Amino acid sequence: SIVPVLLSGGSGTRLWPLSRSQFPKQFLPLAGERTMLQETMERVAGVAGISAPIPVCNEAHRFLVADQLREMGWGDNPILLEPEGKNTAPAIALAALEAERLDSSILLLVLPADHVVDEPEFLQEAITVGREPAEQGSLVTFGIVPNAPETGFGYIRTQESPEGQLEPLAVAEFVEKPDRGRAETFVESGDYFWNSGMFLFRADTYLSELGRHAPEILGACRQAFESAERDMDFVRVNAEAFAKSPEDSIDYAVMEKTETAYMVPIQSGWSDVGSWSALFEVTPKDENGNVVRGDVISRGDSNCYLRAESRLLVTSGLEDHVVVETADSVLVAHKNQAQGIKGLVNQLKSEG
Ligand code: GDD
Ligand code: MG
Repeated sequence: SIVPVLLSGGSGTRLWPLSRSQFPKQFLPLAGERTMLQETMERVAGVAGISAPIPVCNEAHRFLVADQLREMGWGDNPILLEPEGKNTAPAIALAALEAERLDSSILLLVLPADHVVDEPEFLQEAITVGREPAEQGSLVTFGIVPNAPETGFGYIRTQESPEGQLEPLAVAEFVEKPDRGRAETFVESGDYFWNSGMFLFRADTYLSELGRHAPEILGACRQAFESAERDMDFVRVNAEAFAKSPEDSIDYAVMEKTETAYMVPIQSGWSDVGSWSALFEVTPKDENGNVVRGDVISRGDSNCYLRAESRLLVTSGLEDHVVVETADSVLVAHKNQAQGIKGLVNQLKSEG
């Protein structure tokens, strides 16, 4: 069977003031009706052989995850709790160790809980196509055709270019977060895909590749997992052992180094919703090109993201702006400044 691993560790500061450290974006209904966490599971629930997910999140968010999954009927497995964020390589290791207890040949479908996918059918098809190489012991990732030299993504070059039919392509090169110059060269060449950050592999494949390329992470995670405290709902890994794990992402720790990776392209619109402008791009607009959410009166605005959470918001004559009202803070920004909000919020935090 295929077990989704719901990675839900992000703090999502770039979507401030809606997304907060106690209530990050994956727990909010940002683009659709359901929260991003719920939509993450919902979009793969139709794939043949999918079973209940293994969620991995920070201790602080355990009730949000538990409630949101239970509401949808996906609360069967205990939730893996991290005492601190150590990035995705350790988080996925914990899920793989948990899966191994159940059945070592289980396929893990790693899903970041903060992405938007326009047409889930295409993702589902790609997962089905990725099954065979994953069952054979490869690490399978899903690729997106890039449309800009983004530096926040991984880039993948495959050994052969895709032909008409959807098939797994052997990975020739994986470069995580290249600098601007390299990203431009990659996109211009037309030979590279973005790494979507979703993966499919057997639990034992991941653990052995992690052991080969990042043995300290595997060692620390194994210890933390073996001395975890378990109850019906939660698995609390041992904090002292987990603290010894190096902090690293699956992309740097494993994907850049492994020699056994395949990529399946996804044809759908996709976004990792890393900023207000990214969220704007993937949300349906009204006839003036605005996204309007909540109690908003908009007159003569165009191409704006306007959102009211707790009070009436009135805007007029704005172009390309983001206005987000919440009970205690209001953001007014130009869309092209949206990437800078992370820095601003970190500054606010350090100033107390
Ligand atoms: N449980 C848990 N614990 N989840 C985590 C942790 C952690 O310590 N760190 C990150 N996550 C979750 C995030 O919430 C997100 O859903 C996902 O794992 C990926 O982490 P990001 O921090 O968002 O990674 P990224 O966006 O910089 O890069 C990754 O995704 C890109 C696509 O969006 C990489 O895989 C890139 O190669 C890829 O292009
Ligand atoms: Mg991300």
